[in-house]
Amino acid sequence: MAKATTQFVCSECGYTSPKWLGRCPECGKFNTFAEEPLAPAPTKKTQSAFRLNSTRPTPLKEVQYEKFERISSGIRELDIVLGGGIVKGSLVLVGGDPGVGKSTLLTQVAAHLAREHKVLYLSAEESCSQVKLRCERLGVGGGDMLLLNETCLDNAEEAISEAEYVIIDSIQAVYTEALSSAAGSVGQVRECAARLMRIAKSRGITFFLVGHVTKEGTLAGPKVLEHIMDTVLYFEGERTENFKILRAVKNRFGSVQEVGVFEMSDKGVLGVSDYSSIFLSETRGEAAGAAVTPSETGNRCMMVEIQTLMTKTSYGLPRRMSLGIDLNRLIVLVAVLEKRCGMPLASQDIYLNAMGGIKLSEPSADLAVTAALASAERMIPIDRYTALFGEVGLTGEVRSVSFAEKRVNECLKMGFKRVILPAKNLKACEKFKDKIELIPVSYVSQMIKALFPSK
Ligand SMILES: Nc1ncnc2c1ncn2[C@@H]1O[C@H](COP(=O)(O)OP(=O)(O)OP(=O)(O)O)[C@@H](O)[C@H]1O
Ligand SMILES: [Mg+2]
Repeated sequence: MAKATTQFVCSECGYTSPKWLGRCPECGKFNTFAEEPLAPAPTKKTQSAFRLNSTRPTPLKEVQYEKFERISSGIRELDIVLGGGIVKGSLVLVGGDPGVGKSTLLTQVAAHLAREHKVLYLSAEESCSQVKLRCERLGVGGGDMLLLNETCLDNAEEAISEAEYVIIDSIQAVYTEALSSAAGSVGQVRECAARLMRIAKSRGITFFLVGHVTKEGTLAGPKVLEHIMDTVLYFEGERTENFKILRAVKNRFGSVQEVGVFEMSDKGVLGVSDYSSIFLSETRGEAAGAAVTPSETGNRCMMVEIQTLMTKTSYGLPRRMSLGIDLNRLIVLVAVLEKRCGMPLASQDIYLNAMGGIKLSEPSADLAVTAALASAERMIPIDRYTALFGEVGLTGEVRSVSFAEKRVNECLKMGFKRVILPAKNLKACEKFKDKIELIPVSYVSQMIKALFPSK
């Protein structure tokens, strides 16, 4: 019988088994086994070599600075998110939903880099002619870019080691023969990424990896994939929306506070420098159910409109749907309005949308969500020059949020005349008092009174 070269390891507790198991007998977790190559047992020679090895620690004061060479990707917004350009010899993972524009973005980068460097585009998902067609459609040139249509990483290794910049599209589509499991499985993704990391660090080759995301919105494959990478970027945005946000979730060479705003066009993804009004509708202030909040996304403050729609529920259970804001957050805020402000919402279907396909993850949007819901319920539009921000607690109190000054400043810049903000944030924003009306509130009910005084 052929000797086994791989084993299956439980990713939760490390239990090993020669074959795949559905349930780990050690920790009892289901579906945690991933294939791994069997490490050769250390020989006597390597053991003694290890003992005699003269790798010695260095005192901190004697450590030499490594120079991080950065070059531009040709896309300003991407450079900002990367922390000032592409770092040579780094591994960058770009994750995102299907069709969001990962291949488009990286094709543009590859074509730009190919003008002066040796670039390999390893396309495991599309044929070379598809990539060429895309390059022509985008009009980016890139005639010197090398294309390879290969799914087996072992076969591509030679071509990879000859390039300076390599794009792998995608990490879930490539496999190594060292493991028998299918491409895209946890073991394969981890092994392929680890191999690329070794190449990157030993030869100074820069890698861009495309990664798919799961239904839950996290990168498909193990968490360890993110640990291996130097930089992990998420490309997000609704497929039907033109605007996309590129966000760093991990960056060893820069801040994760930056975001890049892109617009999808037939010429590819273009950076948007004037992003301040793209998340506002033109008819703002005319219909009930919309409120605007200054949202701190990355290092930028953007005015985002939140729209809600309420319809009488035709089934026993009212529907709640949310785009751009966590659904659980919406459900909590609806409950707060019902209980603390006496708003009858139990018989209403509620739909919520943050404009432009942006995802708002910070709690400062709470107050605007409750204002939009209150406006929809009362069928009274909110004045188009009023903005709100603040976190809402379960008791109906409005809590202070960070960057209050920056938010008010953005409202002022965008021509807003009134800001409803948490009372605790008022002090920090007092210097704007003469230029913009500041309405401090401590409870959601106060905010509703301020917005709809006649009721
Ligand atoms: N021939 C075309 N003409 C105009 N727009 C196109 C064309 N092909 C693709 N697009 C646009 O480009 C978008 C992004 O495509 P792209 O292939 O870059 O996405 P992706 O993130 O790589 O997707 P996948 O995960 O499927 O590889 C598409 O959603 C579509 O809107
Ligand atoms: Mg693609």
